[in-house]
Amino acid sequence: MEEEGRRGRGPIAAYLVEDHRRLDGLLERAVADPNRVDRESYDRFRAGLLRHIGMEEKILLPAIQRWRGGSPWPLAPKLRLDHGAIASLLMPTPTASVIGTLRDILAEHNGVEEGPEGLYATGDELAGAEAEQILARLRAAPDVAVMPHSDTEAVINTVQRAVEKAGYRFKE
Ligand SMILES: [Fe+2]
Ligand SMILES: [Fe+2]
Repeated sequence: MEEEGRRGRGPIAAYLVEDHRRLDGLLERAVADPNRVDRESYDRFRAGLLRHIGMEEKILLPAIQRWRGGSPWPLAPKLRLDHGAIASLLMPTPTASVIGTLRDILAEHNGVEEGPEGLYATGDELAGAEAEQILARLRAAPDVAVMPHSDTEAVINTVQRAVEKAGYRFKE
């Protein structure tokens, strides 16, 4: 089944699904020791995930809208709300609640993007001859610098609001 999925996969899906797997691997490494988060892996995960979101928001979603004659992809607002929640969860210290919430959201979100009617399949389907050009732009997406963690009340409120707005629950 895995192989069948790969066979039908275009270049945009292949690149971004592989990036999901790489980011999953970094998160697993970051939390492998239940007593302490490996900060180096977690920072690489944070930077990589912000770059990944940037590729989707700044390159793929606008391209899909253009290929649709200017009409936004129907699930774009939902994906953007998810991205807001995910990005906010990268700000505070990665407690068990933060990591648990992040994992729940990513599992659902990545499933929507990778599915047969998902963001990536739609991108490959609509890209046609432009697929390789989009792939080149994705590959060239710049690295993103991460900020030091912040646990102020304002940050915690922002996280809770962003998570709820996207339709998820913050794990206590
Ligand atoms: Fe995404
Ligand atoms: Fe993604």
